[in-house]
Amino acid sequence: MFEFLSQALSDLRRTGSVWPSSPILARAMTKSIARVEGPRRILEVGPGTGPFTRAILRKLRAGDHFDLVEINEKFCRKLEKELLSKYRQRHPAVEVRLHCAPIEEAELSGPYDIIVCGLPFNNFPPKLMRQIFRRMFALLKDEGEIVYFEYVGVRAVKGPVVDDAARARLRRIGAFGKSLRRKHQGHTELVLGNFPPALAFRLKGSKPTKRAASTTRSRAGARAKS
Ligand SMILES: C[S@@+](CC[C@H](N)C(=O)[O-])C[C@H]1O[C@@H](n2cnc3c(N)ncnc32)[C@H](O)[C@@H]1O
Repeated sequence: MFEFLSQALSDLRRTGSVWPSSPILARAMTKSIARVEGPRRILEVGPGTGPFTRAILRKLRAGDHFDLVEINEKFCRKLEKELLSKYRQRHPAVEVRLHCAPIEEAELSGPYDIIVCGLPFNNFPPKLMRQIFRRMFALLKDEGEIVYFEYVGVRAVKGPVVDDAARARLRRIGAFGKSLRRKHQGHTELVLGNFPPALAFRLKGSKPTKRAASTTRSRAGARAKS
């Protein structure tokens, strides 16, 4: 907790909050992992001090592969020392790799079944948010899932206390999030057991659902007939 607070004070833009997420939010963010049949490939982006990491590690089984990407070196050292090296010793049949790098540049080889993302997008330039989602979708299996979160009402709270340029940036971030959820059959879960309360968003990969596929096919058919 103290480590997180001190990193937040030195780089609030990237850290995004002043304390780690709760175990209840961690459960909501990681529950889809159990639905995937193994061996599974999981990616966590922005683990910080590891509240989601702990929940993910508990769900892993022999043969699974787990990559973590964290930009902050202090968090990387802490994760490695307190969680990952001990886990590897006890579970040699699970491959766990920590990449201390920005997700934009980390050397990863997908595809992943589930990507759990803890990045504070409302602090980022919209262009960076788009770039990161493009990368995550490129690393995701067609039938995979990306889970990310934000605090309830974060843009409404920030909007009145920032300048016009920052307000416009927040609007673009909100609009991009909505378009992602529209295109990727987004599912939103309200998690009250976190401070502040949060929304966990689940996005599907690019493989069209049966309904979307039949709509696409019938549109193509209509075009072919005309
Ligand atoms: C809001 S904190 C979330 C930490 C943790 N998942 C939690 O929920 O408590 C965001 C984390 O993302 C990391 N981060 C920020 N930008 C990143 C980037 N481009 N690539 C990888 N990690 C990044 C920060 O260092 C920080 O640990």
